[in-house]
Amino acid sequence: MFNKPDKTRRNRDGINLFDPSDFVGMYKSGGLASQILDEIGEHVYPGQTTAALDNFIKEQIEAAGAVSATIGYKGYQHASCISINHVVCHGIPSEKRLKDGDILNIDVTVIVDGWYGDTSRMYVAGKPSRKAERLMDVTYESLMRAIEVVKPGNTFGDIGHAIQSYAESERMSVVRDFCGHGLGRVFHAPPNVLHYGRAGTGPVLEEGMFFTIEPMVNIGRPETKVLADDWTAVTRDKSLSAQFEHSIGVTSKGCEIFTLSKANRFHPTY
Ligand code: MF3
Ligand code: CO
Ligand code: CO
Repeated sequence: MFNKPDKTRRNRDGINLFDPSDFVGMYKSGGLASQILDEIGEHVYPGQTTAALDNFIKEQIEAAGAVSATIGYKGYQHASCISINHVVCHGIPSEKRLKDGDILNIDVTVIVDGWYGDTSRMYVAGKPSRKAERLMDVTYESLMRAIEVVKPGNTFGDIGHAIQSYAESERMSVVRDFCGHGLGRVFHAPPNVLHYGRAGTGPVLEEGMFFTIEPMVNIGRPETKVLADDWTAVTRDKSLSAQFEHSIGVTSKGCEIFTLSKANRFHPTY
């Protein structure tokens, strides 16, 4: 036997250009990641531990015959990242219990038939504060506005600009220290998808590009720091942070979202 050679084309910016048939694989992995996030919602409530949520996610991945992309990734040992309140991203599941009003991002990446599906959403334990709700709304809206500008001929700077201009117009800030990424048959590939920037700058979007957009928005200042566990990123000013993530593919006319919620549960409150 021999391996099928990787015939993936690459553009002048070093970004992979996939074929229409590759979208099928991405829909399978993105669909599974999204379905798991649909199902985790009913398990999120005050008193629940994030370790129990992670365990459920791990079981769902295994039951589907898929593989977790995060277990073993750079030494990470969990099937999800769960980031509560002022945790920006890469929160490690633990025995700590959720409290009423906590907001949390759950981020899952699965591998199905070699294709990576990466998505995250916000959840609430109990009832959120009005400012937490507004933060989640602004973060969700910034992702959707970014997705709307994705089409061949526009640029990655247009994506960053859509997010930054909207979030800052709502007097919130965009995290600079983490970005979206190309993906496909690997977890992280070029380019870095910045969630801030100037319209018309950066690489030009082309049909067949696969990448994530995953803006992190803070109520306070944008600066982050990583805790001593070497993973957990928090806001330096301890202000609340939210994030939503989709994996998408550029088509001739716009883009397709691989990680849409079939149950319409992507946003936690509407
Ligand atoms: N899923 C994250 C992303 O959106 C990466 C998590 S890596 C981990 O890129 F090791 F922290 F799980
Ligand atoms: Co990602
Ligand atoms: Co992710």
